[in-house]
Amino acid sequence: MSDYSKGLEGVVAAETEMSFIDGQKGVLEYVGIPIGELSSKSTFEETVFLLWNKRLPTKSELETFNKDLRAAYTLPQTMIDRIKALPKEAHPMHALRTLVSALALDDKDPNNIELDVLRHKSVTILGHAPTLIAYFDRHRRGLDFIKPDTSLGFAQNFLYMLNGEKPTETMARAFDICMILHADHGFNNSTFAAKVIISTLSDVYSALTGAIGSLRGPLHGGANEGVMVMLNEIGSVDEAEAYVMGKLERKDKIMGFGHRVYKAKDPRATDLQKLAKQLAEDTGNSELYAKSHRIEEIMEREVASKGIYPNVDFYSATTYHCIGLKLDLFTPMFAMSRIGGWCGHLLEQLEDNRLFRPAAKYVGPHEVAYTPIDQR
Ligand code: SDX
Repeated sequence: MSDYSKGLEGVVAAETEMSFIDGQKGVLEYVGIPIGELSSKSTFEETVFLLWNKRLPTKSELETFNKDLRAAYTLPQTMIDRIKALPKEAHPMHALRTLVSALALDDKDPNNIELDVLRHKSVTILGHAPTLIAYFDRHRRGLDFIKPDTSLGFAQNFLYMLNGEKPTETMARAFDICMILHADHGFNNSTFAAKVIISTLSDVYSALTGAIGSLRGPLHGGANEGVMVMLNEIGSVDEAEAYVMGKLERKDKIMGFGHRVYKAKDPRATDLQKLAKQLAEDTGNSELYAKSHRIEEIMEREVASKGIYPNVDFYSATTYHCIGLKLDLFTPMFAMSRIGGWCGHLLEQLEDNRLFRPAAKYVGPHEVAYTPIDQR
């Protein structure tokens, strides 16, 4: 039995060829390509192809992948009816988890996880995800659903279905970059949850439902919503100092900071910070960015020495706000992108599967006599 490491910190659970992270240097690569190269030169669709196939696509391969993904934008009527039956006050993450789980009910062969079949299911689920989220948001707002536009890319089409108008090139590209940055990240909690579930040879819907459940947590993907709550609670840049110091004194976690692996600034935070700064200036949200930046300065002064830096969730909040997304849609945005990474990990796990079943360090009593109830 190996030594016990709380939270599996530092424990290697499997091999992967998808994401490489150097936590000390703040390096992230997808299949060896630095994340900054992909965020500046690639698209979300091309990045998903890279993660699933461990190489960049040829031009014709990418055209085929785009065509297949866009064909999956459209939901079956059964799913549209299910969306309309959801309570309007449900949190979008609970709606998304429920809807992804429900996709199994329309699948004639839901438990089939043969690799070529799983790839096809993955394209369908990834293509459906933006429509599920956009349609639930329009349902809760009492608005008609907007049919997907298959002439638009993944990011652009989502914003179109959500708002009923095509986004500007700048907004669409900014959102595409967000999707690239959130696509994969090693064995984070939600990815590991998906791997654990598929390792029993369960099905893709069960694995993704578990992953969405994990991502919702405020210690994981839910942190981006928590960052926006914090930014809204801080009235002005000048109030940031008292707010942050108060939280630190109470040993409260500052959402969007810290990471199990990064002990330097998350390279995704650096990219998102540039986006946040630009979009804030473009959309009259400079005060919001200034608050974010001030918080980072205070945290740098107070806790950088403990290896606590901004993570992917910190500047994604300002970015998503400036793109016009409601606060409770931030984590669904993370999920929409990470479905790409999760499906890649399901494929990778099944290529060389072994059931995950860790040991437990028993610290309870032994050989205890059974006490009859009338003597307790
Ligand atoms: C994501 O794993 C991934 O790759 C995840 C992710 C991905 O792409 O999938 O990168 C996405 O989930 C990013 C993380 C989002 N979560 C948050 O922003 C929530 C706030 N962060 C913390 O809860 C925390 O930093 C974690 C959960 C992210 C990491 O926690 P660890 O590794 O379990 O570290 P810890 O809680 O044991 O903290 C170590 C010390 C503690 O101080 P001491 O008790 O030793 O004095 O650092 C402190 C903590 O109090 N600390 C913080 C802090 N994070 C850690 N103090 C204040 N604010 C914080 N955010």
